[in-house]
Amino acid sequence: MEDTFLIIKPTAFKSGFSEDILKMIHENGFEIVKKTATLIPEEIAKKHYEEHSKKPFFPGLIKFITGGEVMLVHLRKENAISDLRELMGNTNPEQAEDGTIRKIFGSSMTANAVHGSDSKISAKRELEIFSPLM
Ligand code: RTP
Ligand code: MG
Repeated sequence: MEDTFLIIKPTAFKSGFSEDILKMIHENGFEIVKKTATLIPEEIAKKHYEEHSKKPFFPGLIKFITGGEVMLVHLRKENAISDLRELMGNTNPEQAEDGTIRKIFGSSMTANAVHGSDSKISAKRELEIFSPLM
């Protein structure tokens, strides 16, 4: 079994998509180990997105992810990390494959509905960073 970490981003949360997204994830064989609705403090957001800190979109990304309530979700299944990334679809909803979470619930590169860990190292790191909030 493998663990991974999902965030339902503020726009999707506010639009009331959380239940439908979690249903889709459950139907794809994931165990929902834990979920918490919360606001992400700026310091935690900056730590989470540290790899993008030098990029031009970083300030907007931090403002966006801290700008409203989100759902933090700890998930578990065989191949959870790559299977979740596949179910999420391309970062840009316009390029996301039909039937993916970002295609169905995303509306732009920033408002792309969800975050999912992209590697074993990221999943472990992110579950640790967010554990005080969960
Ligand atoms: P995430 O980390 O949110 O799961 O998304 P990802 O792995 O598919 O994409 P990543 O490259 O890690 O980018 C993180 C988030 O930053 C925003 N972004 N904006 N304007 C841009 O060029 C740009 N590039 C990335 C997206 O919201 C992306 O989810
Ligand atoms: Mg990423």
